[in-house]
Amino acid sequence: MRPLKLSPRIGILVFVVAAFILAILSHAFLRGGAWASNQNLGIVVKALQKGPGDPPVFAYWISGTGGEGQKMLRLLKAVYHPRNRYLLHLDADSSALERSKLARSVQTESVFKTFRNVDVIGQSYAVDRTGPSVIGATLHGAAILLRVNADWDWFVTLSASDYPLVTQDDLLHVFTSLPRNLNFIDHTSDLGWKEFDRFDRIIVDPSLYMDKKSQLLISSGTRKTPDAFKIFTGSPWVILSRDFLDHCIHGSDNLPRKLLMYFANVAYSIESYFQTVICNSPEFQNTTVNNDLRYFVWDNPPGLEPLFLNRSHYKTMIKSKAPFARKFMEDDPVLRKVDKKILKRAPNEVGFGQWCLDQPANKKMKLDSSSCSNWGNINVVQPGPSAARLRSLVTELITEETPYSNQCKF
Ligand SMILES: *[C@@H]1O[C@H](CO)[C@@H](O)[C@H](O)[C@H]1NC(C)=O
Ligand SMILES: *[C@@H]1O[C@H](CO)[C@@H](O)[C@H](O)[C@H]1NC(C)=O
Repeated sequence: MRPLKLSPRIGILVFVVAAFILAILSHAFLRGGAWASNQNLGIVVKALQKGPGDPPVFAYWISGTGGEGQKMLRLLKAVYHPRNRYLLHLDADSSALERSKLARSVQTESVFKTFRNVDVIGQSYAVDRTGPSVIGATLHGAAILLRVNADWDWFVTLSASDYPLVTQDDLLHVFTSLPRNLNFIDHTSDLGWKEFDRFDRIIVDPSLYMDKKSQLLISSGTRKTPDAFKIFTGSPWVILSRDFLDHCIHGSDNLPRKLLMYFANVAYSIESYFQTVICNSPEFQNTTVNNDLRYFVWDNPPGLEPLFLNRSHYKTMIKSKAPFARKFMEDDPVLRKVDKKILKRAPNEVGFGQWCLDQPANKKMKLDSSSCSNWGNINVVQPGPSAARLRSLVTELITEETPYSNQCKF
């Protein structure tokens, strides 16, 4: 490539103008549409309020692999609320076409365009859920979300096979009254069979250094169980506070980095990384709620992944009071039931909430079905029946008779 020849003065001028444009663009980007009025659409959306009595903001990290673009899009719409932030990542097992299709779908959805709170990671890389590469991906997502907007309160990890069992209004409503420093993370230091099978064994995850995913390499050697820190393990699915993720990513304490390197050679390390960091960090170890707020069904004997859920699980799923469930097959009929009965979501629409007062039934008749004709308020959430279930679960968890069940037990 031929270098551009500019005189120093023109160069400086170009630089200043470019910096100015960049500043304006990044300002608009960082603030997002929800923070400003959108003149083009002739609507004024109330600015996002974040006071003590206002609902929190969730930052969703939604990850998927090849063939899961449509599942991710459906999940995104099911968990959508203009207050929140969404970041999607399709790993390197997806095709460039699938990734650009997902990005285009997000770009053209009129509600997402209005609030500009959904982003898709353009760069793809290999991710293996059974290896440490998924920890790298999760931290990458959290780092971007912290950079794009540090206004959020909780980071929620979801895969394309997950689905909500509550509306966002319900989730936001129940979390409004919770201390923002709580971390919903399932954990135990009772390692059981995992001690030998996972932590004494040394693995290498090729997804850390190859373009495409391939199986973990397992070394024949073993190593001692650490004594510089205590290992904790639990569910790979978490809802973490912004402060804790800031500690993991930008903290001046060396523990998060040290553990990242230790867990680089542990299979299924996403089940232990955040657990071990939080329980070994004195300033965070009293912020744990020992639950992942997900509904799963395990086979008997349990496999490595939970069973796929279907209509036969609907009742127990609701009874569990959990806000999220997994795993679901693409377009399983039970999802339609959840859409209809719980989310009040018409096919292809985002979930119903007080921010848009269109009734789901009317929306189907409009030409641009994805926009809103009767704007509500993004700072108001109205709890429905699923809020009562979730509140009851959270109250049970936090004000339990045995208050120590949430603590990290060494
Ligand atoms: C955490 O809780 C334990 C037990 O109640 C207490 O001894 C400890 O001081 C607490 N740590 C912090 C940082 O508050
Ligand atoms: C639902 O899932 C369970 C367990 O995964 C399975 O045994 C059952 O056959 C499934 N039922 C239907 C209707 O697909």
